[in-house]
Amino acid sequence: MALWGGRFSTGPDEAFKQFNDSLPFDYQLVEQDIIGSIAWAGALKQVEVLSHDECDTVISGLSALLEEAKQAPQQIANSGYEDIHSYVEAKLIEKVGELGKKLHTGRSRNDQVATDFRLWSRQTALQVMQAIEDLKTEFVALAERELGTILPGYTHLQRAQPVLFSHWCLAYVEMLERDKSRLADAIDRLNECPLGSGALAGTAYPIDREKLAQELGFRNATRNSLDAVSDRDFVVELLSCASISMMHLSRLAEDMIFYNSGESGFIELSDNVTSGSSLMPQKKNPDALELIRGKTGRVFGAFSAMMMTLKALPLAYNKDMQEDKEGLFDALPTWIASLHMAQACIKGVKVNGEATLAAAKGGHANATELADYLVAKNIPFREGHHIVGQMVQQAIAQGKNLEELTLDEFQSICPQIEEDVYPRLEIAACISARQALGGTSLPQVKKALEFTKS
Ligand code: ARG
Repeated sequence: MALWGGRFSTGPDEAFKQFNDSLPFDYQLVEQDIIGSIAWAGALKQVEVLSHDECDTVISGLSALLEEAKQAPQQIANSGYEDIHSYVEAKLIEKVGELGKKLHTGRSRNDQVATDFRLWSRQTALQVMQAIEDLKTEFVALAERELGTILPGYTHLQRAQPVLFSHWCLAYVEMLERDKSRLADAIDRLNECPLGSGALAGTAYPIDREKLAQELGFRNATRNSLDAVSDRDFVVELLSCASISMMHLSRLAEDMIFYNSGESGFIELSDNVTSGSSLMPQKKNPDALELIRGKTGRVFGAFSAMMMTLKALPLAYNKDMQEDKEGLFDALPTWIASLHMAQACIKGVKVNGEATLAAAKGGHANATELADYLVAKNIPFREGHHIVGQMVQQAIAQGKNLEELTLDEFQSICPQIEEDVYPRLEIAACISARQALGGTSLPQVKKALEFTKS
């Protein structure tokens, strides 16, 4: 059943076979393996290893196999072959007979797997791109729905300055844009075709590798056979893109879990992304968000595992590299699922504008405004900062917000303060003061919205 029995007098023992076989997971490459094989059959025809008719027969056998595989790919996993390449070859031979044995001419599983995995990666990464775009669109819609809503902005998880809720949405849009552009770069770099590199030294048949690359939708053929069969940078890059983006999603999850808590009450998650407690009837738990936060860990794990597996591997192919697949097979679908879940959470979220406003008004979030007011009264900022600190102390002592101090109270600390301080301390004034590019004033936020939509 194996592709390499000739040199061996006994077969592998069962434990080794189980340890060695990759079919239980690389069956997921079945479509890519067949598509790559169809292109390879064409290349063999070009170098006259296969006649016109033979090539046609092989291609129709492979096409039939592709249709069958699409029906029930999972059944392949337990069929006992060593890997997906062995499976496809054996099934082709069942279909077209001896002729099928010609297909592996000039090819190695090393260039084959490198090609299959790049095809899978490109296809799956394009699905991720779409999921990122969809989440971005959802954030833009929420930003537009909540255009007037004011949210307390935090540093150190302490209320710092008020911001527009939409500004918060657009912060995540920025992250998603970067995630997308990073992934687009990774896709661009992986879009090269290793097929025709042989086991490591190149193929001994004069195959037009650029044509072969084009047929498989690659930008070009790889230029060095040793590198082509042993490079797994694309796996590392994709896992790194996934890790960075999951890190962003975990921050989003954490923000929303906090906003959804009974203590904040800023948002309410919709029923379809929350679950109940088996014991406590009142509970509505933010499971979707917690799972996004939790799954971030396993994506990071896949990234570091790949780095460690590749470290110090000598050129060219080593079996260690078979360990490249399970991490990425897990991480990319996890990433897509997390993006979809984040989208569902954003889509159904209800924002409690009164609670966010009340919280934004508390916590002396207008203290910076007061310091800026003193700057306008010709007091150097550092001095003003100190004076406002004293006023905050006084307000805290009296259980008041800053704007509730009387003019006398203000003037007892700083005589330059006048009646015109009060409008400056209003929350709307704090927001609209942030007019410079990237700030939270309404015109800036609207501008940012237009920019993302364009
Ligand atoms: N199953 C192998 C993998 O995933 C395919 C390449 C095997 N090559 C070899 N020379 N044993 O890496």
